[in-house]
Amino acid sequence: MTQIKATNITWHEGHVTRQEREHLLRQKGCTIWFTGLSGSGKSTLAYTLEHALVQRGHLAYVLDGDNIRHGLNKNLGFSAEDREENIRRISEVAKLFADAGIITMTSFISPYRKDRDNARRLHEQAGLPFIEVYLATPIEVCEQRDPKGLYKKARAGEIKQFTGIDDPYEPPLHPELVFNAAEVSPQQAAADLLNYLIRRDIILPEE
Ligand code: ADX
Repeated sequence: MTQIKATNITWHEGHVTRQEREHLLRQKGCTIWFTGLSGSGKSTLAYTLEHALVQRGHLAYVLDGDNIRHGLNKNLGFSAEDREENIRRISEVAKLFADAGIITMTSFISPYRKDRDNARRLHEQAGLPFIEVYLATPIEVCEQRDPKGLYKKARAGEIKQFTGIDDPYEPPLHPELVFNAAEVSPQQAAADLLNYLIRRDIILPEE
């Protein structure tokens, strides 16, 4: 649990509404939350979708686990407590980006259901769409791909608490979308996601 230390603070309302920002950008702000094991294809799909959206004239941005851990979250490791704080911070950042009108994508293992559900609640309370996308790529495939050589290190005992090896991953119970990177290309999954965003009125169909 996060200890609340901020006291004597007052919320300051701005003069520009979210609707005005969304009108300016011709899109709705939202968060697309990618979750899955390391090597399951979260970041590849997120960056493929970001590219497709920008080419289509939209403002989209990826908050990527490995990248965020180089800066904002460089003081966090991989204990259950640190992973919870990692996800808590990024849930708040994603909410701010979505409120700014940006199609925001987060690419974090986010292994705990409770933490992802908190992220969803935070968005729903703010009236922002939250789309959970589960990369259900089997661990055997992730381990075989091993793009960063980390499974090999974890198997050799050089990395402890590695998700899927000696640390848990709790799959989503009701994700909006599921993809298996062993069966679908990032291009096809990104195209499916674009269509989903149109169905959800987040972006408009092409004229
Ligand atoms: S999360 O569990 O807190 O959501 P996050 O997505 O930020 O994880 O970071 C995962 C990335 O950190 C992995 O893709 C991998 O490159 C690296 N990593 C380093 N140590 C571990 C570990 N013990 N478990 C999982 N990933 C790790």
